[in-house]
Amino acid sequence: MSILEIDDLKKMARRRVPKMFFDYADSGAWTEGTYRANEEDFHKIKLRQRVLVDMSNRSLETTMIGEKVSMPVALAPTGMTGMQHPDGEILAAQAAEEFGVPFTLSTMSICSIEDVAERTTKPFWFQLYVLRDKDFVFNLIDRAKAAKCSALVLTLDLQLLGQRHKDLRNGLSAPPKFTPKHVWQVATRPRWAVGMLGTPRRTFRNIVGHAKGVGDLASLSSWTTEQFDPHLSWKDVEWIKERWGGKLILKGINDVDDAKMALSTGADAIIVSNHGGRQLDGAPSSISMVEPIADAVGDRIEVHMDGGIRSGQDVLKALCLGARGTYIGRPFLYGLGALGKPGVTKALEIIRKELDMTLALCGKRLITDAGKDMLHR
Ligand SMILES: Cc1cc2nc3c(=O)[nH]c(=O)nc-3n(C[C@H](O)[C@H](O)[C@H](O)COP(=O)(O)O)c2cc1C
Repeated sequence: MSILEIDDLKKMARRRVPKMFFDYADSGAWTEGTYRANEEDFHKIKLRQRVLVDMSNRSLETTMIGEKVSMPVALAPTGMTGMQHPDGEILAAQAAEEFGVPFTLSTMSICSIEDVAERTTKPFWFQLYVLRDKDFVFNLIDRAKAAKCSALVLTLDLQLLGQRHKDLRNGLSAPPKFTPKHVWQVATRPRWAVGMLGTPRRTFRNIVGHAKGVGDLASLSSWTTEQFDPHLSWKDVEWIKERWGGKLILKGINDVDDAKMALSTGADAIIVSNHGGRQLDGAPSSISMVEPIADAVGDRIEVHMDGGIRSGQDVLKALCLGARGTYIGRPFLYGLGALGKPGVTKALEIIRKELDMTLALCGKRLITDAGKDMLHR
């Protein structure tokens, strides 16, 4: 099968990843309206076709929070990535490193901060969920520092876990439970199952053995449901920033007022995001919020965005509307589920090619020149 677009990787991942984990990636909250809108709203934005301009010597290079990137597309933090493919976080981090784009490790990863640090050579970014157990949070921040992570991505939009019907219906858990349904889902994906048997990384390794009272799997599920902190406030950003002491990115801002609040925190960047439509169903798509937010904050803070990017064209549209950088979640997960590390590389290559060609056909040579003048308005 030739793999030409992200959707090809999605189809392949569906065949190779046990249903409960494929569905975990391909799901949004409640009606999935915001999940769908994230993708659909990109199609409403039209590009200006320009001709007879010099399209040679093009470059997609730029920076995100001062770090050089080969294109402005980072890998978004995604939980349980090591269940899409054995050792998933390590493989995705390696693919990103070789490609020259940032990788963000989730708090809820299967491979731990240390697992990824030991198997990569350049700094990656770490995403933090603020949990009730503050000693554990302090410790996570310190571990990310010790692993030389170069940015902390603080997620703000998951004080409560959004309800995703598919996960409840599937009885999702990591590692999978041993009910007949789950055994069947795994048994019908033998390549995945054999790979999983070959790795010790099958649970939330940032947490197990590090958080108080979580020494085994039986206690983990109750721990995670109790641990997300509904008290989180703007004040918490202060102590987190102080304890971290490095580059800070605030993730999950989807409203102009919140973006303005973020300015006073001294963070280096915000990510316009609705968690890929997994939290507040009914919220506007992230792409529809990029322009109002970028206009409101100006150049006082870097604006990044994620949600619904399925092609290089989508990346370009986000940049034209004011984002300096973007992130992909599902596109790299599909690549990983389909083919492991080469699949993540493939997802990045597809996006790079589409981005580069679209830039050229819009009459520009440098990605840093992307602007509203490239769009029909
Ligand atoms: C399977 C999955 C797990 C996710 N887990 C996390 C997470 O642990 N932390 C976080 O900040 N965001 C998480 N997200 C949200 C992503 O970081 C990102 O905002 C979203 O995937 C972007 O949308 P896209 O998948 O359409 O690219 C997750 C998304 C998916 C699809």
